[in-house]
Parts: sequence; structure tokens; C-alpha cells
Amino acid sequence: MNSLKRVVILGATSAIAEQVARQLVSQGSHLYCVGRNEQKLNAILQDLRVRAGENQPISGCSADLTDTGTHQSLIAGATRFLGRIDAVLVAHGTLPNQEACQANVDQTLSEIETNALSIVSLLTPLANQLEEQRHGVIAVISSVAGDRGRQSNYVYGASKGMVTIFLQGLRNRLSKSNVDVVTIKPGFVDTPMTADFDTSGLLWSKPDSIAKGIVKAMEKGKGEIYLPWFWRFIMIVIKHIPDTIFKRMHL
Ligand SMILES: NC(=O)c1ccc[n+]([C@@H]2O[C@H](COP(=O)([O-])OP(=O)(O)OC[C@H]3O[C@@H](n4cnc5c(N)ncnc54)[C@H](OP(=O)(O)O)[C@@H]3O)[C@@H](O)[C@H]2O)c1
Repeated sequence: MNSLKRVVILGATSAIAEQVARQLVSQGSHLYCVGRNEQKLNAILQDLRVRAGENQPISGCSADLTDTGTHQSLIAGATRFLGRIDAVLVAHGTLPNQEACQANVDQTLSEIETNALSIVSLLTPLANQLEEQRHGVIAVISSVAGDRGRQSNYVYGASKGMVTIFLQGLRNRLSKSNVDVVTIKPGFVDTPMTADFDTSGLLWSKPDSIAKGIVKAMEKGKGEIYLPWFWRFIMIVIKHIPDTIFKRMHL
């Protein structure tokens, strides 16, 4: 089992990440949380401190994670605060408007920057640090959308697909250094990101149940995990639809 004693959460204001933080605090973790919205982050930190025990340090800082120039100092700050990093969760992301991206390449590139490039930039020094200490777990929230490009969201899907492939290679590399790399692929989750969708169907989950799956996967050092589990089978079907049929579908 991986230790989740000293944990860095990047994108800590996400609804899913907030639930992960609550669960970690309830099991005694020390947390360093990074989020973009300072007000929201401070409210989350305050809530976590109320839930934490006396000798359970909780802190963080606000940062726009597309600002890659700050990543080294962010990681150094987190390491100083925690003493050592046992685990990292990368949770930030945006769900682009696909049609707006099709009309404007700058928007497409900006979405790819948020959902893929910023993560590569964060994971490069983090992976080196954990590799050197020969201990730890890196978890990133990718998505089922990264398993196959669909007309309705392929800018998002391509970004998540890049993250998934990057993590496959990183897992392969870091397994020799006792560092686990966990790719989390949620299906539909009822969060602010999906506020415009009808979230009433059977395929929709709540962030707290996804968070439980994330914490368990990080502890066990799972490779790729679908949350809830049934998305693995949905995606097997989606991935195996022949292209000649797939291109005629409105997905
Ligand atoms: N909800 C779903 O159905 C679903 C499904 C599969 C995967 N996911 C993934 O799950 C992760 C968490 O999303 P969520 O569902 O919890 O949605 P959410 O509550 O909307 O969280 C997204 C978070 O990303 C943060 N963020 C966006 N751009 C950022 C940047 N440049 N720097 C720092 N933080 C930034 C946002 O910060 P602000 O508060 O400042 O906006 C927000 O807190 C995302 O990676 C998402 O792609 C979600």
C-alpha cells in the first residue's frame, strides 16, 4: 500500500479534488493544495483545517497552473511545507466548447495548454523528484474522453488522450524506482464542469464516490482505473466500433 501521508493536490478547487482532500484529511494526511481561485481555495483550506487534527498541517497557495514558469517553485514550496512528497494528485481541467474551438485555433491551443501541456510541465520535475527519492505515487485525472476522439469533444479528448499516453510512459519508467503512476478515467461526474448537462441519468456519479475510488487507487498504486468501474466496459465497446460505422455516428 502506498503512503498517502504527505500529499500535494494540484487543481484543489475542483469538486472532485475537494472530496479527495476531505477523505485524505479524515485519514490523517498532511496536505498542500494548489488552486487558481484564491477565494475558493482559502474557503476549502479553512474547511479542511476544521476537519483536521491538531498535528495535521494543511496549507497551499493559489496559482494558474498554465503558468509553467512557476512550477519548479510551486513544487519546492510544497516539498518544504510537507518535508517530503508521498503522493500527488493532478485534478485541474476545463471542458472546452468544441464548436468554439473549431472556430478559433487560439481557443483550441489554450484548452490543450490547460488540459495537457500544463500537466506535462508539472509532472516532469515531480517525476524526477519522486524517482530520486525512490518512493511515491502520482495520480492524474484524465478521462474516458481520451480513449477515442468524438466529434462532440475531440479537443478535450485529444488533450486527455495525450495525458493518458504520457502517463503510460511515465508508469513504465518509474516502476523501476518504486513510484506508482495512476491514470484516473472518470465517466460523467456531476460537478461545476458539467453544470450545463442533464445529470439525472444512471451513468452520472457524484464527486464523493469518484473521490473514494481515487483514494483507493492511489493507495493500491493501480495503473489505469475507470470510475465507476462499468466505464471500462462502455469504453471497450466504444473503442471497438469500426471506423466505417463510427464516422457516421453522432457521438
Ligand atoms: N466532471 C466530469 O464529468 C469529468 C469527467 C472526466 C474527467 N473529469 C476531469 O476531472 C477533473 C476535475 O474536474 P471536476 O469535474 O472536478 O470539475 P470542476 O469542479 O469544474 O474543476 C475543475 C477545476 O480545474 C481548475 N482549473 C482550470 N484551469 C486551471 C488553471 N489554469 N490553473 C489552475 N486550476 C485550473 C478550476 O479552477 P477554478 O476554480 O479557478 O475555475 C476548477 O477548480 C478535470 O481534470 C476534469 O477534466 C471530469
